[in-house]
Amino acid sequence: MLNIKDSRFTLLHTPTPLRRMMRLEGRIGRAPLYVKRDDHMEIGMGGNKLRSLEYWLGAALDEGADVVLVAGGPMSNQCRLTAAAASVAGLDCVVFHNANPHDESLRASFLNGLFGAEVRFLGNVSEQQRAVLVEEAADELRRQGRSPYIVGDAIIGALGYVQGALELHRQSRSLDAPIRHVVLPGSMGPTEAGFIFGNALQDNPFEIHLVSVEYGQADLAARIARIYCDLAAHTGLAAPEFDNLLVHYHMDHLGPGYGHPTEASEKAIVTLARTEGILLEHIYTAKTFAGFMDLVTSEAIPPDEPPCVIHTGGTASLFSQFHLFRALEREAGMPIAVGA
Ligand SMILES: Cc1ncc(COP(=O)(O)O)c(C=O)c1O
Repeated sequence: MLNIKDSRFTLLHTPTPLRRMMRLEGRIGRAPLYVKRDDHMEIGMGGNKLRSLEYWLGAALDEGADVVLVAGGPMSNQCRLTAAAASVAGLDCVVFHNANPHDESLRASFLNGLFGAEVRFLGNVSEQQRAVLVEEAADELRRQGRSPYIVGDAIIGALGYVQGALELHRQSRSLDAPIRHVVLPGSMGPTEAGFIFGNALQDNPFEIHLVSVEYGQADLAARIARIYCDLAAHTGLAAPEFDNLLVHYHMDHLGPGYGHPTEASEKAIVTLARTEGILLEHIYTAKTFAGFMDLVTSEAIPPDEPPCVIHTGGTASLFSQFHLFRALEREAGMPIAVGA
């Protein structure tokens, strides 16, 4: 058992499901293929950030906070899940978007208000400016006698996936052929660093593959290494040096960059919907599943070494992404019902 001293506010009933994707196996001609359904949680339509929020809200409650502040784009899963989780914890929530309040962003942010959060649109400011404005808003709340907590610390957030790696390992041990490879998105880092750290603490049962959806390889690796080292210092747990770990970085699905679909990612959305009834969204999970399918079809992951892809959620944002399907409709002539 792990001895993580940080407080945890329970939001999940773990373990999340670990499932075979039988129809995808038939389509690809290879079995078993596993998916860890971290999109399958009870609050706010689930997703990786809910694991982080158990620790963020644990810290907020420890500090006596009565309001949590969170920032992101209007489609941000972190904002939506913070708003949902704050309502469960009985905390107020203020969401900050670096966007203007036009029709599209108001629609994308709709669920935040539904969960009871106050939503503030900051206009087109950079992420750095946004962070300054959030700090200023926290100061203003303090002057009003409130106790704000700003959600997003990468190390605290990463603790959720240290636990996630342990959870998957426990599930994997009960399978006839335990999982050998785990594929997850490579992005800001807390999820990946936490999972890598949890894996390393268990003597690396999994080989880890990151499909980059945001940064170039050097940036992504540096971010993860930093969080990993900080996790070791923060928890005091004896983990091996990051540089001694084997992590595979896959850059070939980044395409034109963060949030821009590729032909393969659009196809992954359609394939998973039509084989497994699983919903993927464009920014994180579609590229990750496209990478996963590449790795198994090319046998870069050998046929006798069972793989698992982690579905990190984000499903709600799919309903603000109709326009992103148009390229696929045009280029491949696939019959996709688009709204708006
Ligand atoms: C659905 C989904 N998957 C993956 C990620 C990436 O997680 P991280 O920021 O921990 O790298 C995010 C981040 O917002 C997300 O919303």
